[in-house]
Order: sequence, then structure tokens, then C-alpha cells
Amino acid sequence: MSAFELFCGDCLDPVTGLASLADKSVDVVIMDPPYEAEAHTSARRQTRGPDGIAEEYSIDFAEITEPQRRAAADETVRLTRGWVLCFCQIEAVGLWRTALEAAGAKWRRGGVWVKPDGAPQFTGDRPAQGFECLAMAWAGEGRSRWNGGGRRACYEYNVNNFGREGGAHSRQHPTQKPLALMQALVRDFSDPGALILDPFAGSGTTGAAALSLGRRFIGWEQNAEWHAGAVKRLANVREQPDLFGRTKQPKPKQSALAFGGEAK
Ligand SMILES: C[S@@+](CC[C@H](N)C(=O)[O-])C[C@H]1O[C@@H](n2cnc3c(N)ncnc32)[C@H](O)[C@@H]1O
Repeated sequence: MSAFELFCGDCLDPVTGLASLADKSVDVVIMDPPYEAEAHTSARRQTRGPDGIAEEYSIDFAEITEPQRRAAADETVRLTRGWVLCFCQIEAVGLWRTALEAAGAKWRRGGVWVKPDGAPQFTGDRPAQGFECLAMAWAGEGRSRWNGGGRRACYEYNVNNFGREGGAHSRQHPTQKPLALMQALVRDFSDPGALILDPFAGSGTTGAAALSLGRRFIGWEQNAEWHAGAVKRLANVREQPDLFGRTKQPKPKQSALAFGGEAK
């Protein structure tokens, strides 16, 4: 394959989806599937648009279902020689753990993406949500290994940090992850040359991070418009990986201490 391949369609289709790939044919899965029903039905979210002004938007793709969660876990564990990382809301960490373990992976850690600029709670009747979670499981042989030494699984990056890529504003998707966050995960959980899979690609941020850091990428996105935007974005990154690899994001605030070996 070339540096990237992004299919337009349902990744869970039994013929044309993940099922079409051979066992253990990718190195790492970093996926950002739809969240639970409550995240989707709360409907309106707020973010900063290209001009810095607050904009409202809705999530216009469906929440994940239990059969989809099980199928995604089964397929990604079957396919990877290493990590399966899965973004989710805190209420779903246990659900993803159960699904990944049932598929044969070893549970390793729950991680967090802390969002210092996350939206306030506009209703004022409860605290605002300040983070999202990551389920981290190992589907490879033997002991798990990563490039982060003894660091904590805590990634702190602003939500509203969309720069310009290829002359266009890089915000293309309602739940787009920051590029710098995805680059940190790619660095920590894969080596140069690795093949990274994201079956729920959206605007292609996982792929953009992978290509900008000398990895390869394979993915699926079911929405034709987002798929087309992501293909364009990835082609730009492939042509100019250094340009898109540089970001103004602060590094995660963690101790510089790195302890060898694996956290228990
Ligand atoms: C949370 S978003 C991913 C956003 C992405 N991380 C980004 O930075 O742009 C989830 C995406 O998965 C897509 N999706 C949902 N179910 C899918 C399926 N079965 N196959 C392929 N794509 C799917 C949705 O259309 C949506 O774009």
C-alpha cells in the first residue's frame, strides 16, 4: 500500500470493512468511535470557529450500539500486533474494557485527554465535562511495550487549536481531535514505519498524525463528505509531513522522569 489508504464505507461491513483485512496485519489501532447516546442526544455543543467566535454545532452521526462496540473490539483485536487505543466518555470505559478483554486483549490502563479550554456548563447546574477517556489494551504477543517509559496516561491539549493545513482551516468535523494530541499518541504507542488503523476516521486526524511522523495509515469513514475531506487532508500531509508535523501546542505537562519498564 502507499503511505495511506482510506476507505469510504462501513468499517463493520462483513465483506468490505475490517473483515477484509488479514489477522495481525496492522501495528496499532487508535480509534475514536461514536460515543454513548447521552453524548449524542445532548445535541448542541459549542466551539470556536475559524474566526475565533463561538459557534454551536450538533453531532450528526449516530451513537455507538452494543453490537457495534463488540464488533469493533473483536475486529481491532484480531487485526493488531500491538495496542488498541479507544477514545470514549468516562461512563463507557468499563464497557470498552469488557469488550476488548472478551475479544482477547489484555487491559493495560485507562487514560485521559484533559481539555483546559473545554466548554463551560452553560446550564450551571453541574460541573462541566473537562476530559475524555482512552481505553488502552494490548493485543500483541507477550508483554506490552510503549515509548513513554513510566509517564502517566494523561494528555493535556486544548480542544480549540485548529490551525491551517494546506491553506485551509483545518476544522472539518464536529468532534475533530486536536492534531497535537493524536501526534502524542502516535509517538508514544508506535514506532516509525508502523501501520496505524483508525476505523472511524472522521476528518482523518489520526492519519494526519501518523503520516506527519513517518508512520503509515489505513482507515474507514462512512460519511462521503468527511471521507473526501480526509483524503484531501492526508494527501497534503503526505506531500508536506514536516509542515503539518509542527504545531504550536504546548507539550503535555508531565514530569520529565521516565522510568523504564511497564506500569502495573
Ligand atoms: C468521533 S468521530 C471521529 C473524529 C475524528 N477522530 C477526527 O478527528 O475527525 C467518529 C466518526 O466515525 C464515523 N463512523 C461511525 N460509524 C462508522 C462505521 N461503522 N464505519 C465507518 N465510519 C463510521 C462517523 O461518521 C464519524 O465521522
